[in-house]
Amino acid sequence: MKRRLVVVSNRLPVAISRTGGKWRIQPGTGGLVTALEPLMNANHGIWIGWPGCGPEAPVDELIEGFSAEHGYELKAVPLDEQEVEKYYRGFSNEALWPLFHDLLGHCIFNLDHFRSYDAVNRRFAEIAAEYSTSKDILWIHDYQLILTGRHIRQLHPSHMLAFFLHIPFPPPDLLRRLPWCEQLIEGLLAYDLAGFQTLRDHRNFVHCATTLGRGVEVRSRHRHHTILGYDGHTIKVGHYPISIDSADFAARASSDEVADAAWYLHENYQHRQLILGVDRLDYTKGIPERFLAFERALEKYPEMHEKISLVQVVVPSRTMVPDYVDLKGKLEQLAGRINGRFSQHGWVPLHYHYRNLDPVQLLAHYRTAEIALVTPLRDGMNLVAKEYCASSVDNQGVLILSKFAGAADQLGKHALLVNPYDIEKTADAIHQAFCMPKAEQKRRMALLRAQIRRNDVHHWLDNFLQEFGSRRRGGAL
Ligand code: F6P
Repeated sequence: MKRRLVVVSNRLPVAISRTGGKWRIQPGTGGLVTALEPLMNANHGIWIGWPGCGPEAPVDELIEGFSAEHGYELKAVPLDEQEVEKYYRGFSNEALWPLFHDLLGHCIFNLDHFRSYDAVNRRFAEIAAEYSTSKDILWIHDYQLILTGRHIRQLHPSHMLAFFLHIPFPPPDLLRRLPWCEQLIEGLLAYDLAGFQTLRDHRNFVHCATTLGRGVEVRSRHRHHTILGYDGHTIKVGHYPISIDSADFAARASSDEVADAAWYLHENYQHRQLILGVDRLDYTKGIPERFLAFERALEKYPEMHEKISLVQVVVPSRTMVPDYVDLKGKLEQLAGRINGRFSQHGWVPLHYHYRNLDPVQLLAHYRTAEIALVTPLRDGMNLVAKEYCASSVDNQGVLILSKFAGAADQLGKHALLVNPYDIEKTADAIHQAFCMPKAEQKRRMALLRAQIRRNDVHHWLDNFLQEFGSRRRGGAL
């Protein structure tokens, strides 16, 4: 690929922190960064985003050092306190996030927040326009920046613009509740390529665009994409399920360091099966429902007592949003109740960790856990499900997966699929996983792992960029 990649996302792919009075900048983790880095390096790409820290941090100096070391440039979009409050916390995380996850009860719609969202999206656009040319590939990411493309288009009508939504896209009946839904649809129609995680999201967007948008027509429908016509130009809409670097997870999970940590963990939980849950603290992840299902399983199947423990890792997230603070209290209370009801000498049924696990510990947990319980109420994809399988290098383990995670489209056939709102049946699935013969585990896990290997993050990236390339008049990227 010869063209330069200009990536625009809410956050820069770095973590800036201060320890002992010294500022540090470290590369961010996650599949997107891993997948994009080689391309960014090869073409001296640019990544534009919010550094995620306050004005006291020497951001320019830190990102300059990072850019020199990593072979691609970072451009910071600083946000002041009001913008963090209205654009990030308010409109992005208290309106779009719950609405797109089908959780209307958590939504707060506020005009002032929407205005700030639009203004901040415009600022991202101005910076992107300043540092890019019409020869570049401009790739905007996620729900925080839906309107950025439209603002870039106003500044540079001929730029080719791609967008990828990492979270679900709602159907018209849900989206129309948002007072500014037409602006959002128009925003998405400004891109040349709009990518979604699943066929359902792709169809939802086409349905919203044609029913809630004005003057949108479907030009053609294909197996993996739809061409829409709007305002004298065409938009390609498709679905491209994001993934992980499967080979990298498998290699790291096979390392001696991880094997030792896994062995140590197992020694701590002898004669016991481990169920693992790993999530950001978020009400979309269905953690209280999961705890209730585990509690119900212990009530219903006493033969599991002392033979099974749930290890739930909850990674702190969006701690300034009140609904997240409430959720933390609820989880602590439920965990206390379950342990109070069922604990016995030498057996704690639920281990609740509110912190981040370091990469070796995370892989050791993935490798050791006999069961992964991945039960979001709604999720764009859910990469934990894929990471668990990729790290199960002995082909052992059972994945219990929510029907409402995007990952269910690819993994649903060989996982145990559940409706996370159905506490009774999720409890039964836990028991089924607990009793599953090793041979069946191996058969299912081998198939899951092969699926993830074939459709890894590199495949996702190639697919997306190829689609983008085929949109350009005059050829490949
Ligand atoms: O797609 C989900 C997402 O919002 C990402 O954009 C983001 O990296 C992640 O969740 C964490 O959220 P936040 O940036 O709000 O901490």
